[in-house]
Amino acid sequence: MTNPVFVNSTIQLFHGDCLEILKEIPTDSVDLVLTDPPYGQSYRSNRRKEKFQRIQEDQDTPYILLTRAAYECHRVLKDTGAIYMFTNWHQQGTTDYALSKYFKLGASKIVWVKNNWSAGDLDSSWANRTELIAYAHHAKHKLLGARPSNVLYFNKVSKLHHPTEKPVQIMEYIISKGCPKDGIVLDPFCGSGPVLEAAINMGRQCIGIEVREQYIKESISRINHMSIFALPSVGLSPFNFQLKEITT
Ligand SMILES: C[S@@+](CC[C@H](N)C(=O)[O-])C[C@H]1O[C@@H](n2cnc3c(N)ncnc32)[C@H](O)[C@@H]1O
Repeated sequence: MTNPVFVNSTIQLFHGDCLEILKEIPTDSVDLVLTDPPYGQSYRSNRRKEKFQRIQEDQDTPYILLTRAAYECHRVLKDTGAIYMFTNWHQQGTTDYALSKYFKLGASKIVWVKNNWSAGDLDSSWANRTELIAYAHHAKHKLLGARPSNVLYFNKVSKLHHPTEKPVQIMEYIISKGCPKDGIVLDPFCGSGPVLEAAINMGRQCIGIEVREQYIKESISRINHMSIFALPSVGLSPFNFQLKEITT
């Protein structure tokens, strides 16, 4: 059984390969998977000030990784659960294909419109201001609250701790639509931990998994920073989530 590298009443954070650790998560135990997996593009920030390693598993097509992760996410999600997976226009076909093997795909992609655009081919490509989020769910899943638009406007993160860091605010919004108040969120590719921070802010419990130690440290530092400056006011019962023993 893998032990978490960080645990409190709200968060359990695991360091390792999610394809292994996901196997230890009990079936039907999670309400929402919200995740931003590698895109298979060997991404590295072009910003000169930020020096990051290339993202793990980001060199090859992520089809096998995403399909295996989708299989495990389908298993651990309750029958009322849903999965949101960030993707981009190169990988949306791969992402849809992996998710559709196990889930009912949402009728449309969610489009995140950013406050400025990404770099790229300055001469021949249109300046991209959007990112895509694939949404899929189990048959009994219901969106919470008012029906959301599939176009979301959120600012990019200005000071990055991860080369593809996503804003906490977009994670909070998706959690508010997809995870009940006493629910558990899972992010198997948690990077620097914006989903963990959003779950704490929204009073949900969260399980994070990350393979690179550098980003585990960023996640822990993020949570520790929050507990100093912004203790969540919600009174959650103790985290009753436990990994199961795998017998081989
Ligand atoms: C696109 S990034 C996520 C960034 C995150 N959303 C953030 O804002 O910091 C994908 C992350 O998945 C991690 N990763 C890649 N393969 C993994 C695996 N098999 N198990 C767990 N984490 C993995 C990478 O190290 C990387 O940090």
